Parts: sequence; C-alpha cells; structure tokens
Amino acid sequence: MASTSTVTTLTIFFFFFFIELTVSQQISTVDSECTGRWIHIRRLPSRFNLDLLSTCNHYPLTDDLCPYLANHGLGPKTHTRTRSWYRTDPLLLELIFHRRILEYPCLTPDPNLASAVYLPYYAGIDSLRYLYGSDVNSSADHGSDLLSFLTQDSPEIWSRRSGHDHFLVMARPAWDFSQPLTVDPPIWGTSFLERPEFFNLTALTLESRFWPWQEQAVPYPTSFHPHSLPFLESWIRRVRRSRRTSLMLFAGGGGTSSTLNIRRSIRLECTNVTETEPETSSEKIKTCDFVDCSNGICEHDPIRFMRPMLQSSFCLQPPGDTPTRKATFDGIIAGCIPVFFEDQTAKMQYGWHLPEEEFSEFSVTIAKEDVVFRGVRIADVLMSIPKEEVARMRERVIEMMPRVMYRRHGASMGLMNKKDAVDIAIDGVLQKISSRG
Ligand SMILES: *[C@@H]1O[C@H](CO)[C@@H](O)[C@H](O)[C@H]1NC(C)=O
Ligand SMILES: *[C@@H]1O[C@H](CO)[C@@H](O)[C@H](O)[C@H]1NC(C)=O
Ligand SMILES: *[C@@H]1O[C@H](CO)[C@@H](O)[C@H](O)[C@H]1NC(C)=O
Repeated sequence: MASTSTVTTLTIFFFFFFIELTVSQQISTVDSECTGRWIHIRRLPSRFNLDLLSTCNHYPLTDDLCPYLANHGLGPKTHTRTRSWYRTDPLLLELIFHRRILEYPCLTPDPNLASAVYLPYYAGIDSLRYLYGSDVNSSADHGSDLLSFLTQDSPEIWSRRSGHDHFLVMARPAWDFSQPLTVDPPIWGTSFLERPEFFNLTALTLESRFWPWQEQAVPYPTSFHPHSLPFLESWIRRVRRSRRTSLMLFAGGGGTSSTLNIRRSIRLECTNVTETEPETSSEKIKTCDFVDCSNGICEHDPIRFMRPMLQSSFCLQPPGDTPTRKATFDGIIAGCIPVFFEDQTAKMQYGWHLPEEEFSEFSVTIAKEDVVFRGVRIADVLMSIPKEEVARMRERVIEMMPRVMYRRHGASMGLMNKKDAVDIAIDGVLQKISSRG
C-alpha cells in the first residue's frame, strides 16, 4: 500500500506540475468574457498541498484515503468499463476543485489583474493532524503557517484587499474549523475559521454553520463525473425511464437506539409496512425501501444505493450527526425527489446551487417534529401528492442535476457549456467578492 500511494502521489505531483506550468504561461484569448472574472492561483509551497497527500494513510480514525487520490481526487473507477462512475471520497473535493480550476478560462499570472485569488491549500486534509493526529492539543494553530506565508511572501497580495478577495476550499463541515480559540484542549475541531485574521476570506465548505460567516456550502461530490455531454444525456435518459417501484427510500444508518429522533421514526415506519395495495392493477408498489448503510459500508460503494435510488420516487434525507448529507446529492443524480426534515439540511446551505425560492418545486419538506412527536406518517404525506405533481417535481430534480454534479476534468466542450458545481461555486465566489466593493 505504501508504495502504491507513493506512486499515486508522484503521478499527481507531476501532472499538477505540468498543468500549472502550461496554464500560468497562457493568457486567455477570450478577454472580454473575462472582464471582472480573472482569478489568480496563489503559488503555495508544496507543504500546503501536495506534500499533505503523502499523509493519506496516517490517521487510523478515518479511512485510508490513499486509494481515493486517484484520478485527481475523483477516486478509482467503480469498474473498469465505466466512463463516468468513480469511488469518490468527498473529503478530496480540495483536490478535485484544484484540478478543475486549472481549466478555468480566465486565469491570470498577475495578481493585480485578478478579481479573486484562489489558495490551493488542502485545509481539510491538513486538519486531520489536529482532528485525529499528534497536533490534537494545538488546534488553535491551524492556519498559522498559511498566515505567515501570506503575510511574508509578497504580502501586498494578501493585504491589498485585507483578504476579502481570497478564497479556498475546506472539504469538511465548517463546524470542524470553528473551535473557539480560547478552548484548550479543544472539544472538537480546529480554530481556522475563528481566527480574526481569516475573517475576510471566503471558504467553500461541505456544510455551513447555523450563522455562517466566511463560509458558503457547496454540494458534496457524488460518484458521477461524466466527461462529455452524451454521457450525461444517456444517464438522464436512464433516470427518466427508470421504473420507480417504491414510494420512498432511506439509505443510511442510525436510528437503532431508543432515543426519539427522526432516523428512528423512519426506521420504524420503513420496517413496519413494506407493501401497499396495488396502485393500478397488477403491479405492487413498495411503500418504503431501506438500504442499511451502517458502519460506513456504503461509502465508496455507490452501487449499493444508486440502484435503489433509481427505483424510488422519493429519497428521505434526515439529519444525522450533522444536518447535511451527501445522499441529498446522490438522490438528485438518481432523479429521486428529496424529502427534507429541517431547513438546515439543504435549504439554508446551498443557496448558490439549489435556489432557495424554488425548493418546493423539487423537494418535499416535512417538519421532523411532526413525524417524531405528532404521529405524522411520511408515507401518507407523500402518497397524497398527485402523480402529475410527482412527475413535475422529478423533472425539476433532473434540471438541478448538472448544477450539483462535478464533471470530470478535461471534459468536452459540449459538457463545459453546462454549468456544474465548480462553475457555480466560482460564479458565487466572484459575486460575493465583488459585492464587497
Ligand atoms: C492532549 O491532551 C490530553 C489532556 O490534556 C492528553 O491526555 C493527551 O495525551 C494529549 N494528546 C497529545 C497527542 O499530546
Ligand atoms: C477585514 O476587512 C475590513 C474592511 O472590510 C478591515 O477593516 C479589517 O482589518 C480586515 N481584517 C483583516 C484581519 O484584515
Ligand atoms: C405500523 O402499522 C400499523 C398497521 O398499518 C399502524 O397502525 C401503526 O401505526 C404503524 N406503526 C408505525 C410506527 O408506523
């Protein structure tokens, strides 16, 4: 394993090296389209990104991340013949994003021309040593090294707009970086986002706090990374054609203890009834399909849940340890209409990618208190939605699909014309920065 990961790391290293050289020499020919959209990629010493990849198997409390570094962070393909499906670990969004921004058409080597400065720092990977490793008792230090670099090496780049034009990806919930500086040893997390010096920068995280400050949540990467329009279109045809043989699906773990919570209620409801009367004539529709993903068995194994998601009309997205779920996005890729139980799961998170005012057109919200304490049955609520309405909602889910997926780097022009999660995140960052004048 050690030698495999070294090889992977080296491959990645050389590829980045090659690309960065090529890209930074070249100035886009589409200057007019780039007005107000130039991005400068800050050159950081490799200890802030590539070197960190060699720690991919250092932390026994997390999975060994090494196999998932393949394909610039998309992970290994699910099987050899597939063109679009990978075993993607969402923690590696920092690599995925870095690789993708190298293809952004409006990069400039001159920070003075840039509207935004991207820091290719793998903050989440670096945080592992504070969260699980030897630096657990110095989590307030997370970011010190980066700050020294920014304030000492060409300090005018960082200072000209007091950090307002800088952004980075932190591929974990913002909560993991929000430990108060004064709590030592920490309860959980590092203090990166609590440092006043970083208050002005923008962090793209997988989940924002209840009162977000610097951060904006972006979709969790799923396993679907097509590289050309025909692959996306044929998948969408499959999603449309798929027979939805169950009303609702829950793919997840938890809910086994006696504590009253929404996962427990879902588990009880799903294991109680499995079949209802035939909807039309001969064909039975299952009320609830349950994919048990306890102990992380579904991570990196999308086949376990994608097929059931394709066969279900609705996908239940209850909060767990934290309010957001990767499964929200797996479900959207499968054309499975999300059912939310609190606004913190998506509506208050992904304002850039999933327009807040359109939520009721592509999702259902049932307050968790109604289910847990007031005896509302989820199946009753969903069955009361007319068929035509369900079909309309599914079409809206399918419309959202390109916006939340991460297409593969090096994609064809046709697919590049459809904005994906990275394109929308970049638009959002540029707009956020320019709105600060
Ligand atoms: C962190 O601090 C705790 C309590 O102060 C101590 O028990 C533990 O050994 C320390 N961990 C490390 C890695 O230094
Ligand atoms: C953040 O920006 C404000 C101005 O918008 C500035 O006064 C403040 O000093 C900045 N903070 C840091 C740490 O640079
Ligand atoms: C289980 O099913 C029975 C009969 O359909 C119903 O009366 C009961 O309320 C159900 N229990 C739960 C927890 O849904």
